[in-house]
Amino acid sequence: MDIISENHFISQSIMLLLCCTFSEYISVASSIFSPGQSLSGNQTITSTGGIFELGFFTPGNSQNYYIGIWYKNLPHQTVVWVANRNQPVSDPISSTLELHANGNLILHGLSKLPIWSTNSTSEIANSTIGMLLDSGNFVLRDASDPSAVIWQSFDFPTDTCLPGARLGYNKLTKEKLILRPWRTSSDPAPGLFYLELQQNGTSVWLLWNGSETYWTSGYWTGKLFSIVPEMAENNYISNFTFASNKNGSYFTYADASSNTFIRIMLEITGQLKLFIRGKEFTQWTLTWMPPLEQCDVYGSCGAFSICNQKNVSLCGCLQGFEPQVPKDWKLQDHK
Ligand SMILES: *[C@@H]1O[C@H](CO)[C@@H](O)[C@H](O)[C@H]1NC(C)=O
Ligand SMILES: *[C@@H]1O[C@H](CO)[C@@H](O)[C@H](O)[C@H]1NC(C)=O
Ligand SMILES: *[C@@H]1O[C@H](CO)[C@@H](O)[C@H](O)[C@H]1NC(C)=O
Ligand SMILES: *[C@@H]1O[C@H](CO)[C@@H](O)[C@H](O)[C@H]1NC(C)=O
Ligand SMILES: *[C@@H]1O[C@H](CO)[C@@H](O)[C@H](O)[C@H]1NC(C)=O
Ligand SMILES: *[C@@H]1O[C@H](CO)[C@@H](O)[C@H](O)[C@H]1NC(C)=O
Ligand SMILES: *[C@@H]1O[C@H](CO)[C@@H](O)[C@H](O)[C@H]1NC(C)=O
Ligand SMILES: *[C@@H]1O[C@H](CO)[C@@H](O)[C@H](O)[C@H]1NC(C)=O
Repeated sequence: MDIISENHFISQSIMLLLCCTFSEYISVASSIFSPGQSLSGNQTITSTGGIFELGFFTPGNSQNYYIGIWYKNLPHQTVVWVANRNQPVSDPISSTLELHANGNLILHGLSKLPIWSTNSTSEIANSTIGMLLDSGNFVLRDASDPSAVIWQSFDFPTDTCLPGARLGYNKLTKEKLILRPWRTSSDPAPGLFYLELQQNGTSVWLLWNGSETYWTSGYWTGKLFSIVPEMAENNYISNFTFASNKNGSYFTYADASSNTFIRIMLEITGQLKLFIRGKEFTQWTLTWMPPLEQCDVYGSCGAFSICNQKNVSLCGCLQGFEPQVPKDWKLQDHK
């Protein structure tokens, strides 16, 4: 711990003490969860530098509550991670998120039965703490050793990949780190689309719509994906890297500037979007978005066809072929 964060920690601890004498309801006011500590209702924990916040939230016009991580102090809540995507709770006041003495973060509902858990089976359970980092990663780690990470939210991505997080797969355990959008803006349960790294040693991203390939990224050239040349003009990302060894294959990226926030997200519509925001601003700017054009969508015109983005009718047949069902073809059904 360096001096600054230690001071910060001390001042937060003092705040915590003051808060506890002032109101016993505020059980957590720092970036750290200690064993036995819990939060419920509108209580949150904040990352050390005040960038991210973790707590209960209710999306869109939903009546349900979820545990999530979002950017603190943005007028439009931007959620980057959801814990219980499939297991919402209906009442955050009677629900608790607790760092159990066994070292796991556990969400209990009204019935006090566990609804969601980090499920880690660590041997250093009694010295585990939970911490929300300024990268947006929530980690469970040994209290005395920051490198002894037992569990981290970055290993369970939802629809967003933040700088420093990885996407790919573990060759030994076969575990995949994929992006899966929300079902609707009011329901963070996994939608049909998902983005995964092709699992045969190549660097190709596959975007699926259920069981159908929707888009592929092309090969990684070391600088960009072969079919996303506009990535070369992107000055916001740095160190977009692909690493593959006998343990796994992963992509990761970094912020090019310390003055910006950046996030890559798979939208409900199946579009992969890169957003950027200056640290002093509250609005996100969309910088690239594959599939950029309808023609990039795999098989969008059907077999023996050519796709031309500049043609009004988009799809044409290869010479010597005719639409199978001319009526459907006119209605833009090209299969
Ligand atoms: C948090 O909840 C308490 C009790 O329900 C309420 O009094 C308080 O205003 C809430 N605080 C915020 C910031 O919403
Ligand atoms: C934890 O384990 C339970 C029971 O095996 C499972 O249903 C749940 O999805 C697991 N939670 C996570 C976050 O993997
Ligand atoms: C944690 O567990 C270890 C081994 O089980 C034990 O030696 C140690 O005293 C425990 N520490 C605390 C703080 O309970
Ligand atoms: C990987 O799998 C894809 C789809 O199954 C295939 O087209 C491609 O040739 C394979 N590449 C390698 C190097 O095996
Ligand atoms: C994705 O697949 C579903 C079900 O097959 C289909 O209804 C939907 O139109 C597809 N979405 C897109 C954007 O192609
Ligand atoms: C990018 O990688 C280089 C070399 O590994 C490193 O020196 C640099 O700090 C990295 N940049 C960022 C923004 O992480
Ligand atoms: C693979 O994982 C093992 C065990 O976690 C580790 O000791 C080894 O260094 C890793 N190898 C590479 C190439 O990363
Ligand atoms: C462009 O559209 C016309 C119909 O408007 C079609 O006959 C032609 O094949 C299309 N050309 C291409 C290259 O898609």
